[in-house]
Amino acid sequence: MSGTHKIGVFDSGLGGLLITKAIRDYLPDYDIVYLGDTLNVPYGNRSTDAVYAHSVAAIRYLFEQQDCTLVIMACNTANASALRKMQQEFLTRHYPDRRILGVVVPTLEEAHEMRHKRIGLLATHTMVMSNVYEEELHKIDPDIELFSQSCPLLVPLIENDGMKWIEPILDEYVQPLICANVQSIILGCTHYPLLKNHIKKALNGADIKLISQDEIVPAKLMDYLHRHPEIDDNLSKSKNTKLLVTDMTTAYQKTASQIYGEDVCLQKVSVAGGEQ
Ligand code: DGL
Repeated sequence: MSGTHKIGVFDSGLGGLLITKAIRDYLPDYDIVYLGDTLNVPYGNRSTDAVYAHSVAAIRYLFEQQDCTLVIMACNTANASALRKMQQEFLTRHYPDRRILGVVVPTLEEAHEMRHKRIGLLATHTMVMSNVYEEELHKIDPDIELFSQSCPLLVPLIENDGMKWIEPILDEYVQPLICANVQSIILGCTHYPLLKNHIKKALNGADIKLISQDEIVPAKLMDYLHRHPEIDDNLSKSKNTKLLVTDMTTAYQKTASQIYGEDVCLQKVSVAGGEQ
């Protein structure tokens, strides 16, 4: 059955394009609207209040202007600063029939299935300081140890065409996790799947598995839709993907095509005033 509602994907910047593409490839019939808040990226060094306010504006826009009934909050930092409060207060009060799905718990479920007892996390500063991964992990299994490494320089480099500077910085971030003898590393940021090969190189042969959300979230979403036919039946299935950003530059357009792996056309919107 097909309806008119869309699946939204929200990220602070362009990194969420990777998860959007993975969802599109896994669920090719569904219409998807991606919104990257390029006007306010990076979220990773911002206060909780600022990330919450940006997340509310973006998701309200997806609900009101793009007819999204279900939004994947792909941005890990927003998961830490805004997800629970938005689910408990914002949705309950304003949009009781809509859903916001996070990425932290599905990622940890996957990690748990691997039965690893020492897990590393690479994430933004705000994400690491929030302890959300640790808290959620210990609800699943209190015996697993999490070793978190904050990586404040990675997103600014990726968003600003600075990949050529990544390797020495990544070595510095990955080294403590190797020393901690982790068995796997969660890539806890939308942008990091782009760095998989660089991270593997930085691991220098160590037997450590990478846990990457672009490989996890699409299947979890399909499972969710199977369990919620009342939502699935109302989703439109015309194979369209719309890519929206809140600020546009030539560099963003170029980076978006590099991240997406094919030529894409971004559309600039104002989350306060609708599509421009
Ligand atoms: N998208 C954010 C995340 O997944 C990181 C990028 C940022 O700092 O805005 O954590």
